[in-house]
Amino acid sequence: MANNNSNNQYAYKAKPATFYGAGVGPGDPLLLTLKTHQLIQSADVISYIGNTNGHSQAREIARHSIEARTSAAEEVMVKMPMSTNRRLANQAYDEAAMLLRQHLAAGKSVVFLCEGDPLFFGSFSYLLQRLGGDFACQVVPGITSVNAAAATLQQPLTLLQESFAVVSGRHTDQQIEQTLAQHDSVVIMKAGQARPRILALLRQTGRWQDGHYLEYIGRDQQRLVSDLDDLEDQAGPYFSLFVIVRQERPA
Ligand SMILES: C[S@@+](CC[C@H](N)C(=O)[O-])C[C@H]1O[C@@H](n2cnc3c(N)ncnc32)[C@H](O)[C@@H]1O
Repeated sequence: MANNNSNNQYAYKAKPATFYGAGVGPGDPLLLTLKTHQLIQSADVISYIGNTNGHSQAREIARHSIEARTSAAEEVMVKMPMSTNRRLANQAYDEAAMLLRQHLAAGKSVVFLCEGDPLFFGSFSYLLQRLGGDFACQVVPGITSVNAAAATLQQPLTLLQESFAVVSGRHTDQQIEQTLAQHDSVVIMKAGQARPRILALLRQTGRWQDGHYLEYIGRDQQRLVSDLDDLEDQAGPYFSLFVIVRQERPA
């Protein structure tokens, strides 16, 4: 196996004028892939979403990789208002795309860090829409919160003929109810504000006993509730989800 950097088949370097969407995984820094780590080492510009207080979850997950650089990168935080208002979000993406476009046009490599996977409910998708037609783009997949949830629960997401669906707490009651009725396994993302509604729907559809709740998977504050009777019927943090799997699984 090649082990010297100049001739290392495992070395991955950011190319000039290229826009990268790189997954950093769900929270545990050890679940950030080698490929994303290497991009972080070599990119000219590192960008990520942050909240209006200046905190970025994606950057926090990648902190060790960023600190391992031999020289500091230019960092661009895209401040995103915590709101479901798409107009505000689109405005933030427009401004970010304009700024990143200048770096790319100047020949710099730009890596945009995304919590989990960049193309699974990932903010990178909206920048790809804006910049993808004009610049070379590459995507480095990341471990999703769904995979991390299954691993934490030690529960297969699907077995044999079981069906599997993903919905979000922002879907309507009817959409969530239908999904719970039609599929063996279901993940409900973005459970934060929707938690009381999701709990009511799990009762109504008879899936209460199948439900597991997880928040901050892979982070210091991780919480797992496998008996939903122990879960408060109130809104929770944004970084939370439900995994619903049948108690009786095919053998
Ligand atoms: C915008 S989506 C991003 C999903 C991400 N790209 C992924 O691949 O998992 C945000 C939602 O993902 C889920 N999520 C992401 N990371 C999580 C974590 N560490 N623990 C629990 N839920 C998480 C939550 O449901 C949260 O509301």
